[in-house]
Amino acid sequence: MTPIELPERLNAATALVDSHLDEGRADKPAILCGDRTITYRDLSENINRLGNALRELGVRMEERVAILMPDTPECAFAFFGAIKIGAVEGAALLGPLVVDPGVKGKGYGKALVGEGLARAKAQGFGLVLLVGDMTYYGQFGFAPVPPGKITLPGPVDPGRLLAVELRPGLLESAAGQIKAHAPNL
Ligand SMILES: CC(C)(COP(=O)(O)OP(=O)(O)OC[C@H]1O[C@@H](n2cnc3c(N)ncnc32)[C@H](O)[C@@H]1OP(=O)(O)O)[C@@H](O)C(=O)NCCC(=O)NCCS
Repeated sequence: MTPIELPERLNAATALVDSHLDEGRADKPAILCGDRTITYRDLSENINRLGNALRELGVRMEERVAILMPDTPECAFAFFGAIKIGAVEGAALLGPLVVDPGVKGKGYGKALVGEGLARAKAQGFGLVLLVGDMTYYGQFGFAPVPPGKITLPGPVDPGRLLAVELRPGLLESAAGQIKAHAPNL
């Protein structure tokens, strides 16, 4: 029997819905309901919206959400939205990175960032955050997080909070204060 390789982290909403976006099927129909056609993009956006609304209501990982709804696309949004926030789908925090001054400029920084991003991706993270200089991290695709969208518990210059999406659209759906709950990569 061929063993099945399962990733360490698996989110059903990501595996069953977002994977279609990653594979170029965003505009294909995901749900046909009466005269409504919900594409995978619509589905994913509504799942994220629903997940964020639940978060704003204070629902956290491993908490239960009861869904009592007619069998409509909204029911799928609610079902997968609740699933999505129930897993560690959030962000990986990279750094702090420091390279010994004696060996700066030899590519160690690039190698560390590249390895960190590769590990985050391999573990299923869709978003990586760090606090650092845009002048350096911009080359890896990092961009400033819009002010106030994501905050850290300690004092941080908000202009140095940067993010790179490993899965498109995740930054838009991320908001609030960062709380540590993932093991180190
Ligand atoms: C930032 C840091 C990790 C880069 O490590 P590194 O191994 O020297 O980096 P690399 O060899 O990959 O890249 C070197 C290049 O990045 C540039 N660079 C380094 N820090 C930079 C910064 N803050 N802004 C813009 N460019 C920077 C260097 O000038 C060099 O440019 P060149 O290739 O044109 O000469 C290292 O400089 C460091 O430890 N800095 C102090 C701690 C820090 O600021 N960490 C970041 C916050 S977590």
